[in-house]
Amino acid sequence: MKTLRRQNIAVLVSGSGTNLQALLDAEKAGKLPMGHISLVVSNKKEVYALARAEENGIEAVTLVKRDLGSQEAFEAALQETLCERHIDLIILAGFLAILSADFTAKWPGRIINIHPSLIPSFCGPGFYGLKVHEAALARGVKVSGATVHYVNEIPDGGEIILQKAVAVLPGDTPEKLQKRIMEEAEWLLLPQAAELVCASLAGKETEDESHAEL
Ligand code: GRF
Repeated sequence: MKTLRRQNIAVLVSGSGTNLQALLDAEKAGKLPMGHISLVVSNKKEVYALARAEENGIEAVTLVKRDLGSQEAFEAALQETLCERHIDLIILAGFLAILSADFTAKWPGRIINIHPSLIPSFCGPGFYGLKVHEAALARGVKVSGATVHYVNEIPDGGEIILQKAVAVLPGDTPEKLQKRIMEEAEWLLLPQAAELVCASLAGKETEDESHAEL
């Protein structure tokens, strides 16, 4: 019986990094046995997520599209950064840029994202950050939540991995709803999904090796 290889994870961020923190805490607590967070990439300078990486001794790289000149140059630098570090899984955790179809095609089944609504509601282009919760409140839904899904060429359109519902309460503001969804859904769901995907990737790798030996 072969031992499964722990998968190398890169977490892509653009902001405060509370979801990154949830992943780091999960790994420390032994809840990510098949994954190891080895890299944080930010597309914004000086965001708090970078400080969280540093505090946890994780390498952090900042790649800014404007400095690099174009989306193509940004994605080429990102690809090189990830390949040099032998990354197996990319986790988008509050990463506010859309990756091109060319890029996502290079990582089939190896990019996941957390979205703060129950997909297919309030998702797709333009639905990010507080805008998602503003739209949910404007529509008057009584339940919202979070979704972790695979990333493909369609924004928020990849296969759903895990979802969790969260109640919308009377008197909710977008900020209150955002906070409740983070606390009750996102921070639990993302580490769980990361472990599921890492275990699945590690399992496939072992299966492929066994076939190669036949
Ligand atoms: C989260 O609500 C996430 O679902 C969304 O952006 C927010 C990022 O928060 N995509 P953080 O940077 O993880 O604190």
